[in-house]
Amino acid sequence: MDPIDNPFSPGAGSPPPALAGRDEIMKQANVLLRRVLAHRPEKSLMLTGLRGVGKTVLLNEIEKMARSLEYRTLLVEAHEDKTMAALLAPHLRTLFYDLDRIAGTGNKVRRGLTVLKSFISAIEIRIGDINLGLDIASESGTADSGDLEVDLPILFLALGEAALERSTAVAMFIDEIQYFNQKELSALIMAMHKMQQRGLPVVLIAAGLPILPGLAGESKSYAERLFSFPNVGALPEVDAKRALQDPVMQAGISFDELSLEEIFRQTQGYPYFLQEWGYQAWNHAENSPIELAIVQQSNDIVSKRLDENFFRVRFDRLTPHEKHYLRAMAELGEGPFRSSEIARKLGSPMSKLGPRRASLIKKGMIYSLSYGSMDFTVPLFGNFIRRAIPEFTHTSDKTPKRSTRLAAATTKVATEDSNLLIRLSK
Ligand SMILES: Nc1ncnc2c1ncn2[C@@H]1O[C@H](COP(=O)(O)OP(=O)(O)OP(=O)(O)O)[C@@H](O)[C@H]1O
Ligand SMILES: [Mg+2]
Repeated sequence: MDPIDNPFSPGAGSPPPALAGRDEIMKQANVLLRRVLAHRPEKSLMLTGLRGVGKTVLLNEIEKMARSLEYRTLLVEAHEDKTMAALLAPHLRTLFYDLDRIAGTGNKVRRGLTVLKSFISAIEIRIGDINLGLDIASESGTADSGDLEVDLPILFLALGEAALERSTAVAMFIDEIQYFNQKELSALIMAMHKMQQRGLPVVLIAAGLPILPGLAGESKSYAERLFSFPNVGALPEVDAKRALQDPVMQAGISFDELSLEEIFRQTQGYPYFLQEWGYQAWNHAENSPIELAIVQQSNDIVSKRLDENFFRVRFDRLTPHEKHYLRAMAELGEGPFRSSEIARKLGSPMSKLGPRRASLIKKGMIYSLSYGSMDFTVPLFGNFIRRAIPEFTHTSDKTPKRSTRLAAATTKVATEDSNLLIRLSK
């Protein structure tokens, strides 16, 4: 089939040709946005799920919906190395200017800008590269304590009041929310708590890996009451098939039933994988319907592409010790995995593995589900690791065979130091 007409769209955040299986979430978002517009309280949304399940796509769709309902919107993506304040400040500035352009009387928008200015002045962010150009006086003593949990709610109050005064509503969209630290998340939750208490028209719709298990104490209990956490997961078979069939049907083509079943078997319904398989099957097919043999021909190419791109980019960012930790998880079979089991598999005390686990969480490779248990953030990652490192050894050494043999033969010198083992074996 002509690749130029290929309807599939594998890629980060690329809108799929058919947004299958997300009706419930879209409905929930619609209710939320409309209720807040009508000044009724409603839980904000935190979409959580693994890599490549379509969280960003959903955020973009809901943002479109919000705009069509005349919301003013802000959309940001959190990073490992940027503070929340530095991320939000320039967007909030744009938002305030946006509100200022809406006809209306009152001074709440101007006041909002002065509060933003004092907020920025108190936070140690290198604003040099974010030229905010706020040529207004700041409001000393407001939102400038330097404590985010105090200042952010004040800033949000000013924003909510400004929106209310201009008879509009604000929807904030934050992607990759797991990159915010505890303190930032907690401040955000406190700020949204204020919005709900005062009935102000500000909603937050966020997406990322599950954050709730990482939260503690008060912010956790607030979060549970203030947000709903729809799980964005793999698509059930009927939706997965629709995600493949609908787009090709629009071009007068179809998949036969066996080919759809094979793609579902290979992808387990994960949206990103569905797009990759659909894309290759289309390019390989010469006529309609697209049959099982075509999909089977595509299997190797897709697996190779996924290994080289989707999986490999993440894998290459890891140290040998981190890779070894993940390999031990893969050795245990299907997740979730208890830290104690992983430690046993690695033959190391749990306390020693803490920093390694923390750095894997920070890199977004694993996430903690509840106390003491974790899983891969990337679907089917365990299979990939087993392909990349076929043999599990008790050391993070790069030459597994030799060290395994040696470790078995010399239990006495079986030490953590893999280099020593190699030297001994030479
Ligand atoms: N409902 C869906 N039906 C079919 N394909 C989808 C669906 N949602 C997303 N996709 C496809 O899945 C891929 C990944 O989507 P997206 O980038 O939104 O995932 P993500 O969850 O944000 O991933 P990450 O955690 O890596 O940022 C895209 O190619 C997109 O077109
Ligand atoms: Mg995303």
